[in-house]
Amino acid sequence: MSNKILVTGGAGYIGSHAAVELIQDGYEPVILDNLSAGNRKLVEGIERITAKPVLFYEGDCRDRNLLYRLFEKEKPGAVMHFAALKSVGESVQKPLAYYHNNLDSLMALLEVMQRFEVSNIIFSSSCTVYGQPDSIPVTEDTPFKKAESPYGATKQMCERILEDVSANGLRVLSLRYFNPIGAHPSAHIGEWPSGVPGNLVPFITQAAAGIRKELVVFGNDYQTPDGTCIRDYIHVVDVARAHVHALHYLQQQKSSALFEVFNLGIGRGVSVLEMIRLFEQVTGVSLRWRKGPRRPGDVEKIYADPSRAMHALAWKPQFSIQQALLHAWQWQQKLQDG
Ligand code: NAD
Ligand code: WQD
Repeated sequence: MSNKILVTGGAGYIGSHAAVELIQDGYEPVILDNLSAGNRKLVEGIERITAKPVLFYEGDCRDRNLLYRLFEKEKPGAVMHFAALKSVGESVQKPLAYYHNNLDSLMALLEVMQRFEVSNIIFSSSCTVYGQPDSIPVTEDTPFKKAESPYGATKQMCERILEDVSANGLRVLSLRYFNPIGAHPSAHIGEWPSGVPGNLVPFITQAAAGIRKELVVFGNDYQTPDGTCIRDYIHVVDVARAHVHALHYLQQQKSSALFEVFNLGIGRGVSVLEMIRLFEQVTGVSLRWRKGPRRPGDVEKIYADPSRAMHALAWKPQFSIQQALLHAWQWQQKLQDG
């Protein structure tokens, strides 16, 4: 297999961390990103961490002509498909944009992969495919519930498309991330801010930095020990490392048709109030926050059973939640220093 790996969405949060891990494992990522949410500075950050130049194409995954030219020139041996729109709330406002972008990007890629006989793809899926699960921890066999948002529906549909196409000779690993947080320990890459953060940790770091007045805790009357929602937060570098393990796993498989899914979480549920406490402990910064109403669509409690990924991919999360929060804070400070 060629050492070149097409990384769509590689100028984004998780894709940039995966590109670093790929380079450090001897691969050569080729990044394709339309910069709708990503940023060139993250590509520069990858270069700073690895001291290697990075191949970067600015363009859209749905642009079949561009994909054709890229495959012809770079001849990637596999694809990591991170590119997608990912905001749950925005997807409710703009469902068509989400269906267009997330479904057509995947279909264009699969068409061009077939044409160039590239058969390995690792797909960015999400715990959102499970909806509100009946029991936790969720395993990969936990049945899907009706998706809570158009975004979640695109992830369910993409998995279905991949499963169907795999029958004709595609090898797919779909990685269902729980809640990736943190930033690279070097603070050269992290989550690039765009508008008011919808996710907890970027909101915490911005509130701590004084960019936001205070954090609002969405609901404290859930059936959980402290009344706030429970999630499985995982360091983004551990998520990124899992992709390299997944690539090795794909390369070891003999079968020409493969569709397997893996949960990527640490397997521990942490509440919103615990996250606030841990952030204050590791950074020494006290956070302004208040209790507010529930956020519509929030799942009360979810965390992963990640044992399948740990065994099959020989992968184990290495960072603690404390480290992830510290790295998120260091990234926030770096952003403010310009
Ligand atoms: P991100 O927005 O930081 O990165 C996505 C990147 O894809 C951006 O750089 C954006 O510019 C690019 N992009 C979007 N549409 C494109 C297109 N049509 N063509 C080319 N580039 C395009 O998001 P992220 O957090 O890094 O997420 C990466 C993947 O992981 C997404 O598929 C997302 O749905 C999935 N995911 C993310 C989370 C999370 O909490 N961050 C959780 C589960 C799954
Ligand atoms: C975590 C907890 C909030 C912000 C989302 C997507 C999911 C996946 C991961 C992509 C919840 C609470 C948050 C705030 C708060 N992404 N919170 N105040 O909702 O678990 O998952 O990101 O696939 O699909 O839905 O993550 O970080 O938004 O929220 O109290 O200002 O923090 O209610 O309990 P979530 P999150």
